[in-house]
Amino acid sequence: MSRSIDLAVIPGDGIGPEVVAQGLKVLRAVLPADVKLETEEYDLGARRWHRTGETLPDAELESLKAHDAILLGAVGDPSVPSGELERGLLLKLRFAFDHYVNLRPSTLFPNTATPLAGRPAIDFVVVREGTEGPYTGNGGSLRTGTPAEVATEVSVNTAYGVERVVRDAYERAGARPRKKLTLVHKNNVLVHAGHLWTRTFDRIGREYPDVTTDYLHVDAATIFLVTRPERFDVIVTDNLFGDILTDLAAAVTGGIGLAASGNINPTGAFPSMFEPVHGSAPDIAGQGKADPTATVLSVALLLRHLGHEAEAVRVEEAVAADLAERDAGTPRTTEETGDALAVRVANRP
Ligand code: NAI
Ligand code: MG
Repeated sequence: MSRSIDLAVIPGDGIGPEVVAQGLKVLRAVLPADVKLETEEYDLGARRWHRTGETLPDAELESLKAHDAILLGAVGDPSVPSGELERGLLLKLRFAFDHYVNLRPSTLFPNTATPLAGRPAIDFVVVREGTEGPYTGNGGSLRTGTPAEVATEVSVNTAYGVERVVRDAYERAGARPRKKLTLVHKNNVLVHAGHLWTRTFDRIGREYPDVTTDYLHVDAATIFLVTRPERFDVIVTDNLFGDILTDLAAAVTGGIGLAASGNINPTGAFPSMFEPVHGSAPDIAGQGKADPTATVLSVALLLRHLGHEAEAVRVEEAVAADLAERDAGTPRTTEETGDALAVRVANRP
């Protein structure tokens, strides 16, 4: 556990700066007085792109490396061509900093509306591979724009890349009370990648005899996420399947305003990046309507990653308690929710 945190902050676009301000407020409130927090803000995203044409200049990438962690709001705007910021900023950071674990917890908090019938107990975490799969840009097109166009997007799966994320998932499963790990893939059709994943999953599993394992095809997993979400504890899956499953997971656990994520480099070689799953929400930007809870829960993941477990738990408990008392009939502003959470975490038991 570090006695100081040197945090890079990328507020980004739209509601990004609004929710990040609340995340930082809660972070400052929860940290013990003897832990020093330093922040450096980076002006990246759609506004910067419009002003200078830059997405992530090398100098800033270098400078980001020096921090302990990164807190990101959201980037993107309808005025920027699709893919520009996703590839040039978000994916570039994930690849450059080798964020091979994309961590997305899903918890159904008390008093939170779910579209599912009954009150299923939902508490699982998806460990999504973050640096391989179909997201590496390994493809191209020929005869582009003609009726004879050919386009490829090749999924990259390395023994090294699969093993390290599978191992991380076993570690996380072993540390949870239920100790259950589910591999999600499509190994009946995507046999080359699927068999590498399955063999690796089985081999590494022999080192974790106390972890119960099972396997689901990704299409079946979408069914069970809706019909029996309580069957999941930890899920490990590839980059694309994880992207899709975690949006579904967010939808069944109270929506995008609560979904947190970490882009993690478990080795510590580069800073890990924590961000709400949602985007810049241009439809509600500047109106003080955005729910900052997903960002606050991302701050909890950040605290846990940096070894501040007690503080992480305090943030998560504050969110649970706050949600339990929220009155859906009287919507709060972004700042009011941030203030309520900051007060709760500061009130030490
Ligand atoms: P979005 O997540 O920004 O918004 C989807 C819907 O959810 C909107 O109706 C929005 O108002 C609502 N919403 C999102 N966050 C909310 C919050 N905290 N509180 C209350 N309501 C919230 O997704 P959308 O509209 O597809 O994308 C908008 C922009 O954000 C695009 O430019 C997109 O590329 C970008 N984006 C960026 C991401 C990132 O920075 N990691 C992730 C997803 C999208
Ligand atoms: Mg997504």
